[in-house]
Amino acid sequence: MRVLLTGHQGYLGTVMSPVLRAAGHDVAGLDSGFFADCVLGAFPGDPPGLSVDLRDVTIEQLSGFDAVVHLAALSNDPLGALAPEITYDINHHASVRLARLAKAAGVRRFLYASTCSVYGAAGDGLVTEDAPLRPITPYAESKVRVEDDVAALADSGFSPVFLRNATAFGFSPRLRADIVLNNLVGYAALTGEVKVLSDGTPWRPLVHARDIATAFATCLTAPIEAIHARAFNIGTEENNLTVAEIAQAVVAAVPGSRLLVTGENGADPRSYRVDFSAAREAIGFRAEWTVPAGAAELYREYTARGLTSADFFHRFTRLPHLRELCDSGVLDAALRRVGTEATATA
Ligand SMILES: NC(=O)c1ccc[n+]([C@@H]2O[C@H](COP(=O)([O-])OP(=O)(O)OC[C@H]3O[C@@H](n4cnc5c(N)ncnc54)[C@H](O)[C@@H]3O)[C@@H](O)[C@H]2O)c1
Repeated sequence: MRVLLTGHQGYLGTVMSPVLRAAGHDVAGLDSGFFADCVLGAFPGDPPGLSVDLRDVTIEQLSGFDAVVHLAALSNDPLGALAPEITYDINHHASVRLARLAKAAGVRRFLYASTCSVYGAAGDGLVTEDAPLRPITPYAESKVRVEDDVAALADSGFSPVFLRNATAFGFSPRLRADIVLNNLVGYAALTGEVKVLSDGTPWRPLVHARDIATAFATCLTAPIEAIHARAFNIGTEENNLTVAEIAQAVVAAVPGSRLLVTGENGADPRSYRVDFSAAREAIGFRAEWTVPAGAAELYREYTARGLTSADFFHRFTRLPHLRELCDSGVLDAALRRVGTEATATA
């Protein structure tokens, strides 16, 4: 299958492109490259790609593909809160425009990276895909709007599917230090402390980046009738953990580390436990990675590749990195690259 992977130079895209290629797909990327150089260790082998802003994609750039896997986004809650209007512009409007153009170009499948954050403050019960959506950040709201608008485009020639991923963890050459497990392991490796800023009680369903990649690969070739216009929670009930439980797994993985619960940020209102049975039943997807195994992997990779404090707090944390790109004139205030045309990469 010819697959266009947007966001191929991000944390998840860098893990996903080799998985899709190993499954036999012909993969091309599309990314504005915010984090292209934010690599820990050896540079990954990216698929051929276009360096282009999602907001400027043309129908010609989408023709000839059987599927679009759409990951490109301003991807997390703090980023969205910093600049809500840019989050809506990129994550919502440009994503819906991409889906419309893909449909017009004859692309058959559109796989969208949504998030379990759409459930917001859901309490202690397990949420299924039918649960009310209560997004509490612009980031999560933007994901709900895309699901609604792109679902409305579904017809006999265009099948969108919405993968509501749990919070990711695990090593990617394009590392992210601002997601909970990656953050706790990195901080502990650098300082000896497993520092929990909340009171530790919120539920956080987690899923390994490679399991997310497998879920997308599974959806790409699943029978159309099993996925058409559906949403699937992506993760495993085994990884529905509280922040305190996640921290305990980190203490076990990082030799000599000790737990420190500061509670200074209070309880983050996001809290949800998720039911992942629909993806198991409809497409046979099962997430394999546990949190203890992921914590051990992260510690091993951080140590082997020489993670430094400067990288951990800046290059691999999205907000300060984007601020730096703006301050140095690489990006303008709307997060557009200054003075560049679309170019081919790799
Ligand atoms: N990482 C997680 O925990 C998680 C969980 C659930 C859902 N998701 C979703 O998965 C997707 C990928 O997440 P990630 O963690 O790899 O994020 P990331 O921030 O590491 O990567 C996003 C990529 O999108 C690109 N991008 C952003 N704006 C763009 C634009 N205007 N034009 C072109 N490219 C642009 C960036 O350059 C980057 O390479 C996102 O849609 C995110 O919302 C991520």
